[in-house]
Amino acid sequence: MATGTDRPPPGTDDTAAARRGRGGVHGPARATIAASHLRTDRWWLAPAATAAGLLAFVVYSTWRAFANGDYYAAPYVSPFYSPCLAENCAPMRGGPNWELFGSWWGLSPALLILIFPLGFRLTCYYYRKAYYRGFWASPPACAVAEPHGKYTGETRFPLILQNIHRYFFYAALPVAGILTYDTVLTFRDASYAWGHMGLGTLVFLVNIVLIWAYTLSCHSCRHIVGGRLKHFSRHPVRYRLWGWVGRLNARHMQLAWASLLSVALADFYVYLLAVGAFDDPRFF
Ligand code: FES
Repeated sequence: MATGTDRPPPGTDDTAAARRGRGGVHGPARATIAASHLRTDRWWLAPAATAAGLLAFVVYSTWRAFANGDYYAAPYVSPFYSPCLAENCAPMRGGPNWELFGSWWGLSPALLILIFPLGFRLTCYYYRKAYYRGFWASPPACAVAEPHGKYTGETRFPLILQNIHRYFFYAALPVAGILTYDTVLTFRDASYAWGHMGLGTLVFLVNIVLIWAYTLSCHSCRHIVGGRLKHFSRHPVRYRLWGWVGRLNARHMQLAWASLLSVALADFYVYLLAVGAFDDPRFF
C-alpha cells in the first residue's frame, strides 16, 4: 500500500508536470501513472447518457420557451408558462395570469418564469455533478482522471455562484405551489365547470407529485429542516421532518430525472391538445 513516504520527492517527473502548469491528478504529490484510468468497465456510458438526456431536454425546452404559443388548452396550462406574468399571455380563465409586465414585453412570457425552475435545477447538487461529468468531463467518472490542466472547483467566478442554490430553492416553492393550483384547475372541464377528470388531469397530477418530491428532496431543504441543531431530541418536529426529507433525499437523482421528464411531458401534452392533435380523453 502506498504511504506518504512513497510519494516522489521534489525534482522527480511529477514536479516537472507541475512546472508545466498541471495540477489535480498530475500534481507533484500524486503517483505517476501513464494511463488516464485503470477502469475496465464501460464507465463512459453513464456520462454519455446523462449528456444526451440533458441535451434533449435543453433543445426541447428552448424550443417550447421561445415558441410563445400553443401553451393553453382549457383547462390545461403548460407548466413552462405558469404563472403567466405578461400582458401578451393567452387568456386563461381562472388560471394564474397576472399582467405584471405590460405591452412593452414582446417576448415569450415563458422567459419570465422559467428562470426560477431553471436556476433551481442548474444549481442543484445532483445536476451539477451530472453536467460537470457529462459536458465538461470534470471528472468524466469516478477514478477517471479529468483532462483539464487545473481544477479550481467552485471557488471562483462563475461557479462560485452555484452557492445561491438555497435561494433558488426558496423561489422554487411558490412556483411548485402555483403548479399545484394549476393541477387543481384541471378538475374543471373545457367550459370551466368543476367535476371533470381527463387524461390531462392525470398527467398533471403525476407531474405535480414528482415536482414536489424533487423540490422537497433538495439537499438545501434537508439542511433548512434539520441542519444546525445540536440536539434532535429537543426538536422532535424538525427531527421528524428531517427524517422524511432524508428519505426523499436518498432518491434525489431519480426524482430529478423523473420530474424533468414529467414536466416536459405535461408541456408536450398541452401542446398536442392546443394544436388539435387529439381530444383529451375524459374519465368523468
Ligand atoms: S440539491 Fe438538487 S434541488 Fe437542491
